[in-house]
Amino acid sequence: MLRLWGYSRRYLSRYLLGGVCLVLTASLAMSIPYFLKLAVEAIESGRPFTDIASFAALIAGIAVVQAIVRTLSRALIFNVGRDVECDLRNDLFAHLERLPVAYYQHQHTGDLMSRLINDVTAIRMLLGVGFLNLLNTPIYYAYGLTIMLALHAPLTIAALLPFPILLYVVKRVSRRMMEQTLRVQEELSNLSSAVQENVAGIHVVRAYQAEDVAVRRFARSNDALTDESLSLARVRGQLGPIMRTASGLGTLVVLCFGGTEVVRGKMSVGDLVAFIGYLNLLAWPTMAMGWMLSVVQRGRAAMLRLEQIFSVEPAITDAADADATPAARIEGAIEYQNVCFSYANGDTRSLVIDDVSFRLEPGQKLAIVGRTGAGKTSLVNLLPRMFDVTAGQILIDGRDVRSLPLRQLRSAIGFVPQDPFLFSTRIEDNVAFAIDDAGNGYAERDRRVREAAAAAGIATEIEGFPRGYETVIGERGVTLSGGQKQRLTLARALAASPRILVLDDALSSVDTRTERGILGALRAELQGKSSIFIAHRLSTVMDADLIVVLDEGRIVERGDHASLLRRDGYYAQLFREQQLEESLETS
Ligand code: CTP
Ligand code: MG
Repeated sequence: MLRLWGYSRRYLSRYLLGGVCLVLTASLAMSIPYFLKLAVEAIESGRPFTDIASFAALIAGIAVVQAIVRTLSRALIFNVGRDVECDLRNDLFAHLERLPVAYYQHQHTGDLMSRLINDVTAIRMLLGVGFLNLLNTPIYYAYGLTIMLALHAPLTIAALLPFPILLYVVKRVSRRMMEQTLRVQEELSNLSSAVQENVAGIHVVRAYQAEDVAVRRFARSNDALTDESLSLARVRGQLGPIMRTASGLGTLVVLCFGGTEVVRGKMSVGDLVAFIGYLNLLAWPTMAMGWMLSVVQRGRAAMLRLEQIFSVEPAITDAADADATPAARIEGAIEYQNVCFSYANGDTRSLVIDDVSFRLEPGQKLAIVGRTGAGKTSLVNLLPRMFDVTAGQILIDGRDVRSLPLRQLRSAIGFVPQDPFLFSTRIEDNVAFAIDDAGNGYAERDRRVREAAAAAGIATEIEGFPRGYETVIGERGVTLSGGQKQRLTLARALAASPRILVLDDALSSVDTRTERGILGALRAELQGKSSIFIAHRLSTVMDADLIVVLDEGRIVERGDHASLLRRDGYYAQLFREQQLEESLETS
C-alpha cells in the first residue's frame, strides 16, 4: 500500500483538482432540490407563470453545468487510476526482466500474465472509482444531512432508516460480485492457456490424433466460463433493483410520515419536495460506498499479489564493489576453480556440478562432452552468471565473474543455447539482437548481420527466401527448420563479435557435411577468440585445445584428442562408436 502512495503522489495535483470538482458537483446537485422547493412555493402562492418558468430554466442550467463539472471530476480522478496502472505495469515488467533465470523455473507464465493484467486492473479500480467514491460519499452526506436535518430532523432519521440495510445488502452483493469476477477471470485464464498450449503443441496434437480430446476439453472449459459469466450477470443484475427498492422505501417513509406533517401544517409542501430530492441524492453514494468496500478489498488483495513479485530481489546483480569503470576489454582467459553448483540453493547433496576446475587461455577452444544429463549445460550457464556458483569461483582474465559488471560480462559472451529461441520478428532483427548499434550506422549493422549469417552457414538460405533478411519469423520460428533455427541463433551470437563464444550443442540438428562447412567458416570468425563447444558429435570437437569429459557433474577425463584416445576411456570408446557409424553410413 505504501508503494501505491508512491505512485499516486506523482498525480497529486490532479487528485486535488478532481476533489475540487467533486465538491463543486455536489454543491450544484444539492442546490437543485432547494430551487425545486422555491418553485413549489411559487406555485402555491400563485405567482405568475414567468416566475415559475425562470425557476425551471435555472434548474435546467444548473443541471447542465453540473454534468460538465461532474464529467471533469471523473476524467481527472479516473485518469490517475489509468496512469498509475500504466506506470505500475511498466515497472512490473521491468522488474520481471531483471529477475534471475532461477525465478522463472518455478513460475507459470499464465499466472504472471494474469498478475500483469488483472491485478493491475484491480489497482486502477481502487485508485480511480474507489478513490472517487471514498471522497464523494462523505461530501454528499455532509451536505445532504445538514440540509435535511435543518428541514425536518425526525423525518431525516426516519427516512435514513432503510439506508444501513441498503449498505449492508450492497456490500454483500458486491462481495459476491468480486468473488464471481475472480472466478470468471480464472476460467478465462484456463481457456487462454488451453488455446495457447494447443496452438504451440499443434504438432503433438496432430501426431497423436488428439484433436477430439482437445475440442472436448476446450468445450468443457468454455462451458465453465459461460456458466461463471452468467452467474456474474445474475449477481450484477441484483444491484439495480436493490437500489431502487431501498430508495423507494425511503420515499415511502417520507411520503407517509412527511405527508402527515404537511397535513398537520408542520411542514410546507415545498420542503417535502426538496426533502425527497435530497433523499434521492443520497441513495447513489450510499450504494457506491457499499460497492467500494469490495473494490478496496480486491485492490488490496491484488496489491499483495503484485508485492510478491516486487519483493523478489534480482539475486544476480553487480556486486557492490564491481568496478564502475569497465577495465580494458576482456581478453578471454577462462578459469574454473573448484566450481560446485546445485539448483536447490546450497544443497550439497544434489550437486549438479561437482568440483570442476580447468583453465583456457585467450583464443583457445574448450570442448565439453559427456552423456545426457551430465551437467554440460549447467556448467556453461555459470559463465554469464545465469546462475551463480554454489562454491568455488569462475575467473575471466583473472577476475571473478561476480566482480565484473554484468553488462560487460554478458556482452563479452556470445551464447548459443541448446534450445534455439527466436523472436517473432524479421530475421535481420533476430540476428542483430545483440549488436550495440549506438554510433555505428545502418550499413555497419547490415554488414555484421550478413557476415555473421555467412559464418553460421545460413546466408545462402536466407537470401533464397523471397523476402531475404526481411522475412518475418512465425511464432517461435515455426517457418524455419530445426537446423535453420540453430544456425540463426549461432549467427545472432556471432553478430555482436563477442570475445568468448559458447555453443551448447548448437550444431546438433545439421548434417555432418553442413557442420563441416560451418566449422570451416567459423574458424575465421573465431580467430583469437575463446570458445566453448558442447557436442555429442566428436567431429565438432576433435581439434579443441582441451577436451573434458563430464559425468555426473565431475570431470572424469581431460586432455586433447590424441591423449584421450591413448587413455582408452569414455572418449575413446565414443570416438570408435561414431567412426563405426560413419563408415557404415558412407559404405
Ligand atoms: N537440472 C535441474 N534444473 C535445471 C536444469 C537441469 O535440476 N533447471 C538437472 C537435470 O535434471 C540434470 C542435471 O541438472 O540431472 C544436469 O542438467 P544439464 O546441465 O542440462 O545436462 P546436460 O549435460 O546439458 O544434458 P544434455 O546433454 O541432455 O543437454
Ligand atoms: Mg544440455
